[in-house]
Amino acid sequence: MRKDVKVAIIGGSGLYEIDGLEIEEEYFPETPWGKPSDSIIVGKYDGTPVAFLARHGRGHFLNPSEVPARANIAALKSLGVEQIIAFSAVGSLREEIAPRHFVLPSQIIDRTKARPSTFFEEGVVVHVMFADPFSSILADLIWSKHATIEVPFHRDRTLICMEGPAFSTRAESLMYRQWGADIINMSVLPEAKLAREAEISYQMVCMSTDYDCWKVEEEPVTVEMVIGNLHANAENARKLVKELIGPASQLPNPFKGTSSAAVITSPGSRNAQ
Ligand code: ADE
Repeated sequence: MRKDVKVAIIGGSGLYEIDGLEIEEEYFPETPWGKPSDSIIVGKYDGTPVAFLARHGRGHFLNPSEVPARANIAALKSLGVEQIIAFSAVGSLREEIAPRHFVLPSQIIDRTKARPSTFFEEGVVVHVMFADPFSSILADLIWSKHATIEVPFHRDRTLICMEGPAFSTRAESLMYRQWGADIINMSVLPEAKLAREAEISYQMVCMSTDYDCWKVEEEPVTVEMVIGNLHANAENARKLVKELIGPASQLPNPFKGTSSAAVITSPGSRNAQ
């Protein structure tokens, strides 16, 4: 397997390809944690190797609790990936984050409950630092390109990750606002945690599709609402991605050497521990 792919894009709902990618190969490897969500598309964008993976599968056949996040991160790691820029649709818990706005979160609150969320089990005990779950270096790069798309872009916000697939109740939505959460999705965990365990620098770009259900004067979130805004957001995400791939491949990876990522990459090590 090639090892020269430093940058990966994980596409969320609505983002199923990168425009202008010169496709070279597709990988659908069997990892110790099973197969990834879909084939990983590997190619070059403007001469830079890049991998693309659709988190829910191209065509969206996996619900958030079914995404094989460990296989996804392990497969990207095996290609040499050091920087992941992940996209996700989110609901907004704040008036000023309107549908179709983009947001760079810097914090996460975990409300998931049914997902395997570590590579380190069965006798392998490793605790990684996760106080700052995203890469500020990647966030700075993305922020420097935010004018590429003509939509308001917010940064340093708190993202709450719920299990789903049902959306929140109004009481939960109001409680999350009181907790200080600004946006909500079903996808950042365990993906961000596994990226950290695998020593990969990771930042999520969130794209608002709705006001969840806390805002009484708005219609509560519906699937139709989310899908309408998803398409507009995906168009903007594709524009932004083109600006990020080259510069992201040049960034340092401050997470290298902070975990025990060898457990993830050396064949058989999982059973040998
Ligand atoms: N993804 C998009 N909108 C959402 C919402 N309101 N709650 C959870 N995940 C979402």
